[in-house]
Amino acid sequence: MRAITVKPGVAGSARLATVDDPRPAAGQALLATIEVGICGTDHEILAGGHGEAPRGSPWLIPGHECLARVLEAPEGCGLRPGQLVAPTVRRPCGQPRCYPCAHDHPDMCISLQYTERGIQGAHGYQCERFAEWPRYLVPLPDGFADFGVLMEPTSVVTKAIEEAARVQRARLAWEPQRALVTGAGPVGLLAAMLLRLRHLDVTVYDRDAADHPRAQAVRALGAAYVCSADAELAQVAGADGVDWIVECTGARALVFGALQALAPAGVLCLLGVSGAGVSLEVPADAINLGLVLRNGLVFGSVNASREAFAQAGQSLAVAEANWPGWLAGLVSVRVPPADVASAIGGGPERIKTAVRWAG
Ligand code: BGC
Repeated sequence: MRAITVKPGVAGSARLATVDDPRPAAGQALLATIEVGICGTDHEILAGGHGEAPRGSPWLIPGHECLARVLEAPEGCGLRPGQLVAPTVRRPCGQPRCYPCAHDHPDMCISLQYTERGIQGAHGYQCERFAEWPRYLVPLPDGFADFGVLMEPTSVVTKAIEEAARVQRARLAWEPQRALVTGAGPVGLLAAMLLRLRHLDVTVYDRDAADHPRAQAVRALGAAYVCSADAELAQVAGADGVDWIVECTGARALVFGALQALAPAGVLCLLGVSGAGVSLEVPADAINLGLVLRNGLVFGSVNASREAFAQAGQSLAVAEANWPGWLAGLVSVRVPPADVASAIGGGPERIKTAVRWAG
């Protein structure tokens, strides 16, 4: 079958190759890939800066944002041939002391010995077909054909949003009004969508000009968009601060700006991955004092459990009912597998690029 392969650590090594067909083990399902989204992590893998091939393989099949169709499924597993599914990404480490992995939460793995399909030690989904255990496949309604590829990034944001809400409600009778999302990429847009579904007053802050498709997508949700050339983050937060911030850029200035933009008893979810190695001078005392005296909550979040995938599916269905066509519009470019280079290349007007494997 056809697959995209990369040599981790080698920039520009992505190829469309012919590899062995998958051979499902007893109890596994066989899936046909429909499309696979490309995100910042994929860009890093394709640029040679990240990723690890499975043991014994010189190359990695990348791709972790996948929409697929069931070709064959074991009797009684709850999946039927023809059904749409989204596979999860992370697999448990199997280390005896890792209680999150033992309890179906590899997204919270504490040994950090997990594998991630398409990223870390396991092949991903940029290929025509793959085999998987049914417990890692989340069934989707047929109506998800145009936007089901957004399940994985939505699951990552859902995990962070649900966790923030749970922890805040455990701390106080929380009634957030204002939310701020830094970053208007797909993750930021999906965060804005989930916060709008909770009826918050949402502002999204990024570098793009106000007429950029991403800014237009923000406004279509009934949220506000502020271009960083027009206002500092502190101005956007105002003197009262913001109840709920979701940081989706990993840009150090925004991360530390967000730490100082929280309202009393506010929560900041950190979702953006930073490039390593650059220092920043910060007002450490003022940041600490502000967080302590205002009961600030800050936490990082990565990946998603199967439960978060299921919740993401519910939110996508509600979002599609609220803003028909908005989700499909986020997948702004679809390319065939042979066009790996342009899939990697990006473009100023793009929101999300996906590689299309089958109809
Ligand atoms: C993926 C996550 C993954 C993380 C770290 C992100 O791009 O969406 O599923 O856990 O990268 O590898």
